Amino acid sequence: MAPARTPPRTGDRAPPSRLGTVERAGPGDLAILVAHRRRMWHDIGAARARAELDRADAAYRRWVVRETRAGRFVGFLVRGSDGRVAGSGAIWLQPVQPRPGRLARLEMPYILSMYTEPDLRGRGVASRLVRAMVRWARERGYRRVFLHASKAGRPVYAGLGFVEGNEMRRDLPTPRRRGR
Ligand SMILES: CC(C)(COP(=O)(O)OP(=O)(O)OC[C@H]1O[C@@H](n2cnc3c(N)ncnc32)[C@H](O)[C@@H]1OP(=O)(O)O)[C@@H](O)C(=O)NCCC(=O)NCCS
Repeated sequence: MAPARTPPRTGDRAPPSRLGTVERAGPGDLAILVAHRRRMWHDIGAARARAELDRADAAYRRWVVRETRAGRFVGFLVRGSDGRVAGSGAIWLQPVQPRPGRLARLEMPYILSMYTEPDLRGRGVASRLVRAMVRWARERGYRRVFLHASKAGRPVYAGLGFVEGNEMRRDLPTPRRRGR
C-alpha cells in the first residue's frame, strides 16, 4: 500500500486512516455507492430538493442492482484501515451502435459516480480508482473508456491520460404538456 505523499488538503476529522488498495464493491456496499452518488451531486453543485434526491437514490439503487445482474455495472472502492469507504466509483458498460471497426461487442466502458470523502481528498483515492477501472477495461479487451467530468474531476482524469472528445449537446426546453 502506497503511503500518502502529503497530508490531506481538507479535513475536519482526526488524522485519517491509512488507505487500502482498490476493491470491487460487493452487495453489502450498495448503500455507500448510492450515498456517494448523492453526495457527488451535492458537491458538483447540482443541488436539488431533498425529495427529488430521495427518489433519485431509489432509482439509482434499482438501476445498479439491475445492471449488476446483467453484468454491465461494476463498483470499485477504497477503504480506510478503519473500514470507512474513502471513495468509490463505477464502470457501466453502456450500449453503443455498430460502426466500421465495431460490429460486435456493442458496449463501451463508462466511468461514473466518482466520489471521495472530503477529508480524504488529494490523497490519490480517485486516481487509484480510475487507474483500476482503466485496467479492468483494458484486461477485458476494450479500446476506450468514457466519462463526463466535473470541474473537480477534470484534472484527475486529465492527469491519467483522458482527453476531450468531440461530443456536442443542445439542451432543450421542457416540453409543454399536450392533452392526449
Ligand atoms: C473529483 C474527486 C473524486 C477527486 O478525488 P480525490 O480522491 O481527491 O482525487 P485524487 O486525490 O486522486 O486527485 C486529486 C488531486 O490530488 C493530487 N494527489 C493525488 N495523490 C496525491 C497524494 N498522495 N498527495 C497529495 N496530492 C495528491 C492529484 O494530483 C490531484 O491534484 P490536482 O487537483 O492538482 O489535479 C473528489 O474531489 C470529489 O469527490 N469531488 C466531488 C464529486 C465530483 O466532482 N466527482 C467527480 C464527478 S466526474
